[in-house]
Amino acid sequence: MMTRAVIAGLGTYAPSKVLTNQDLERIVDTNDEWILTRTGIRERHIAAPDETTTDMAVRAAQLACAEAGITADQLDFIIVATNTPDTLFPSTAARLQARLTSSPVPGFDLQAGCTGLIYALAMGSTLIQNGTCRRILVVGADKLSSITDYQDRTTAVLFGDGAGALVLEAETNTEFGILASYLKADGRGGDLLSLPAGGSRLPASEDTVRDRQHFLKMNGNETFRFAVKAMPEAVEEGLRAAGLTLDAMDLLVPHQANLRIIDAAVRRFNLDPDRVVVNIERYGNTSVATIPLALEDARQDGRLKSGNIVVLVAFGAGLTWGSNVLRWGR
Ligand code: UT7
Repeated sequence: MMTRAVIAGLGTYAPSKVLTNQDLERIVDTNDEWILTRTGIRERHIAAPDETTTDMAVRAAQLACAEAGITADQLDFIIVATNTPDTLFPSTAARLQARLTSSPVPGFDLQAGCTGLIYALAMGSTLIQNGTCRRILVVGADKLSSITDYQDRTTAVLFGDGAGALVLEAETNTEFGILASYLKADGRGGDLLSLPAGGSRLPASEDTVRDRQHFLKMNGNETFRFAVKAMPEAVEEGLRAAGLTLDAMDLLVPHQANLRIIDAAVRRFNLDPDRVVVNIERYGNTSVATIPLALEDARQDGRLKSGNIVVLVAFGAGLTWGSNVLRWGR
């Protein structure tokens, strides 16, 4: 009997504070027109100083569990994809567990750049398919504002904060759920997008603070070139792994890093733009939270329907890239 991970619940959270392009004009040497035409972003949500990645994850997780009709003590496992854990340890997953339930649900953090949610869904799906777990909470939460250098206009305009959560549930003999995943990494490109200090390679010191090494560094042009190749590859290979072709795809939900990267994929595949979810305008790049936030928007505007073949695709630091192919609904 074939068991699959179906998505039983989806929840998202974005902090209430909104940082517009006009706000950024007062912080760095930039302008609304540059940001909009080069990235597609108008505004992004920024967490309060005392609002942590875990705080955001809790909000998203509670909504996802409520929709799934379960309480957190019914979870078998928690996977938190994040690049901005509250602390290196204990894990965000352990912190989240303590906030959600007194039941000792195991879990771990998964760090794969902006591809983290894709990796996490693939791992969750595997744990369900092989019978290890029946219910898994998969969370993508990042507080990128905590590692963004607001003196560096090349990155300050790009990022926002947010969280998304999905409850995966085992279902047997179903046509719904995660059909296939495609995961790749190439560490040779690691320096294109990194957080240099704060790990064992470059522990915090007066020098690292002075040199602003605790902020994210990115080679935007090279990352862009990588992204426009990686995204179409992951879409095609994910569909191939599911035994499907591009025609079968009802909805593409891409990582929202730059509208021009998404547009390149739309042109490459000659897609009807209606089949591609874009909400970068309102959230910016929230890393592992972009895909749940986009899924939620597509559901609200009526484009995400039960039975749809949906492709989730992302790329990011590592370098990493990948996709999940699923049939939405249960
Ligand atoms: O999820 C993580 C993965 N990350 C990504 O996918 C990011 C991929 N890369 C990108 O999205 C783009 O490369 C950026 C949006 C980061 C940059 O866009 P670009 O079209 O590649 O611009 P550029 O870096 O080539 O810079 C063009 C010009 C430069 O000025 P000059 O040298 O031509 O005079 C920059 O100094 O734009 C200038 N510039 C800015 N101007 C106003 C760079 N940032 C800004 C800014 N406002 N914020």
